Amino acid sequence: MNAIEIRGLSKSFRGMYAVDHLDMTVPVGSIYGFIGENGSGKSTTEKLICGHLAPDSGDIKLFGKDYTDPGVRVRVGALIENAGCFPGSSVYQNLKMQCINLGIKNADEEIKRVLEIVRMEDNAQLKFKKCSLGMKQRIGIAMALLGEPALLILDEPINGLDTDGMRIMREILVDITQKYGCTVLISSHILGELEKIATHYGIIRRGRMIMELSAEEMDNRAQVFVSLKTKDMNGAKALLKAEYKNVKEEDGYLRVYDIDDTASIVDFLMKNGHVINEIKKNKIGLEEYYIELMSEKEDK
Ligand SMILES: Nc1ncnc2c1ncn2[C@@H]1O[C@H](COP(=O)(O)OP(=O)(O)OP(=O)(O)O)[C@@H](O)[C@H]1O
Ligand SMILES: [Mg+2]
Repeated sequence: MNAIEIRGLSKSFRGMYAVDHLDMTVPVGSIYGFIGENGSGKSTTEKLICGHLAPDSGDIKLFGKDYTDPGVRVRVGALIENAGCFPGSSVYQNLKMQCINLGIKNADEEIKRVLEIVRMEDNAQLKFKKCSLGMKQRIGIAMALLGEPALLILDEPINGLDTDGMRIMREILVDITQKYGCTVLISSHILGELEKIATHYGIIRRGRMIMELSAEEMDNRAQVFVSLKTKDMNGAKALLKAEYKNVKEEDGYLRVYDIDDTASIVDFLMKNGHVINEIKKNKIGLEEYYIELMSEKEDK
């Protein structure tokens, strides 16, 4: 079963598509990294899923039901743009007000539960305005977790966090999916961070989903390559180009793509009289893969 299934979703503002016939499939239990540049339509898509905006056309199904179904709406928690907290009220008071809004009966128990998840059980009495950015992001997540949602939608929760803040956020997200069985849709343009937690990816560009793939597929697709330096770089480049399909010069190294067998390259170059100064195996990370993907699309 899929937590989110979107087909042909469109939304335009003043005649311009913000979301353009978008398809999206988010499996239950996944951490889905929704990746795109500024203005690509991530927040708009999330607002449509949450029912904060009405679509021009298209279908949104959540857990197999239409997204307007009241039974399914209560299973969705979201943090889009900001948590909407009262700065002068404490963390506890903010969560309490949200519990009242949502009609949650065992509020104190529920507040304790969500504060534990976001590792803020010791900060309940702190005024919201006194919280650090990282804490504010976590309070936003705590707000979205009230009422035990089965699907959590988070708009750039790791934006602006320092290394420690990112690490805590990663741990929290993994907990939410693994301990509580919640599905998480998380948008970001900080790809290196998503790489450590996402189980699935969707790449959006100008309102269109240009690719969806699992982390495993991403891993397989993330190209392997051998990078090397020789005494005669130009000569080696010409020779390698004649033998291997994809050879490029990058950052002072020759890269031979789609191969991880250094021995055969060493052998080949030495037989042809080249002196190798340095050689190593590499793999393109998500960040680089994404940049390549974006520049490929730009060329078309
Ligand atoms: N309420 C609105 N009125 C008019 N245009 C809008 C509105 N909301 C979004 N847009 C436009 O729709 C496009 C997509 O915006 P959106 O905020 O969804 O992108 P995003 O991927 O979330 O970007 P960012 O990474 O900057 O948050 C942009 O061109 C934006 O200017
Ligand atoms: Mg946005």
